[in-house]
Amino acid sequence: MANRVPSGPPGLPVVGTSLQYADDPLGFMERAAREFGDVASIDVYGQEVYQVVDPDVVRRVLVENADDYRKPTFGEDEGLAGLLGDGLLTSNGDVWRRQRSALQPAFFGERLNAYADEMVANAERTGASWSDGDVLDVHAEMSELTLRIVVETLLGVELDGMERVVRDALLNVGERFRPGPQAFVPEEVPTPRNLQYRRSVERLERVLRELRRQHEGREGDDVLAILLRMRDQDEVDEDVLRDEMMTMLLAGHDTTALTLTYVWWLVADHPAVERKFHEEVDALDGPPTADDLAELDYLENIVTEAMRLYPPAYVVYREATVDDELAGFRIPQGSVVSMPQWVVHRDRRWFDDPETFRPERWTDEFRRDLPPFAYFPFGGGPRKCIGDGFAMREAKLVLATLGRRYELDRVTEDVDLVPLVTLHPDGPVEMRVTER
Ligand code: HEM
Repeated sequence: MANRVPSGPPGLPVVGTSLQYADDPLGFMERAAREFGDVASIDVYGQEVYQVVDPDVVRRVLVENADDYRKPTFGEDEGLAGLLGDGLLTSNGDVWRRQRSALQPAFFGERLNAYADEMVANAERTGASWSDGDVLDVHAEMSELTLRIVVETLLGVELDGMERVVRDALLNVGERFRPGPQAFVPEEVPTPRNLQYRRSVERLERVLRELRRQHEGREGDDVLAILLRMRDQDEVDEDVLRDEMMTMLLAGHDTTALTLTYVWWLVADHPAVERKFHEEVDALDGPPTADDLAELDYLENIVTEAMRLYPPAYVVYREATVDDELAGFRIPQGSVVSMPQWVVHRDRRWFDDPETFRPERWTDEFRRDLPPFAYFPFGGGPRKCIGDGFAMREAKLVLATLGRRYELDRVTEDVDLVPLVTLHPDGPVEMRVTER
């Protein structure tokens, strides 16, 4: 094995660079890459992490050597692994494999197109609740919309007015992951923030139980139906069922809501992009359908470019289960490797003028020539996002439905970003909606 050890920003005794990380995670990751290169060593809350920003090395971890890496837990029962347990996003080994193959059919092929009508109907409902001149928090609007969509399509039931309760609970859950010195406090310590977190998780669990009750007696091939059948055949227990429903609720709406929020936000500040967006959606005969998806090329580029600049999943982590070597550096078993989309997607080696929002850059040639894993908003390899096709369809259909009817303009001028589990705006994103 190579003996080169990655270097990184110097830190303090005991806490290393954790405090600098907590102060500004995004800037810290960027500086570490700039100063220490493609494989750098950083401290994330007391855990030494090897940060990798070379697309080839990212591919080695996520694809070629995927069998030698697992999802890290960052402490049993803490954080995301504690919240989502044996759900698809955080589980490992046989538990993950069995669920991934059982749930796969709900996310592919014809099933995906079958969700289109519900996606559009829900976007129309959101549009119907807006009036000309309203000033709205578009992040709140997009979150409630994507929540309704994921519950109707993947869980086969309806939120029935519980959107606000779920969204508020999820915002509180997100706060548990806010970077800062409090991130060092273990979950069982009864700080106000930890207590609020616990209460919010319990509230979500009550909603999940209510959704299950609604599903009783219904057949179907939605995710919840598949899981209930597995439970009846003793293939999963009640805990896994809970974990998987929580995973679908969270992973299935938050990232898409963020993508949509950033798209509206970016488009509003780029008149030439907005004009082409309107031209494309106005050319449709009526509300969009699954058949229109392949034609919405410019929308595809807009969404792609928004996820480049503001990747909702701004970093993925893996833990080496055996000794490995990455770009000539020693990666001993147990090391945690981080792969920050936030940094890789803004690397000028792959993207000209990387800070600029330019959907036009995504020509066929550009896509073809881009090194694999210079752009990976959905991760990659066996653990690639199961919902990528779902999310792209949803984003395009929602944008087309609402974009045909409304134009959105910025009211909030500056949006601060905060990297929680995903990359969130820190506060409301107010925009004015105008009937077109
Ligand atoms: C724009 C929207 C989305 C983005 C940017 C996104 C991003 C990601 C990323 C980066 C991963 C890989 C994480 C890792 O490697 O550690 C992932 C996994 C996952 N995503 Fe998504 N996602 C999106 C939408 C969705 C949707 C709509 C669902 C629907 C339920 C979903 C469910 C999942 C699940 C279950 C996993 C774990 C898959 C596995 O490990 O087998 N995601 N997502």
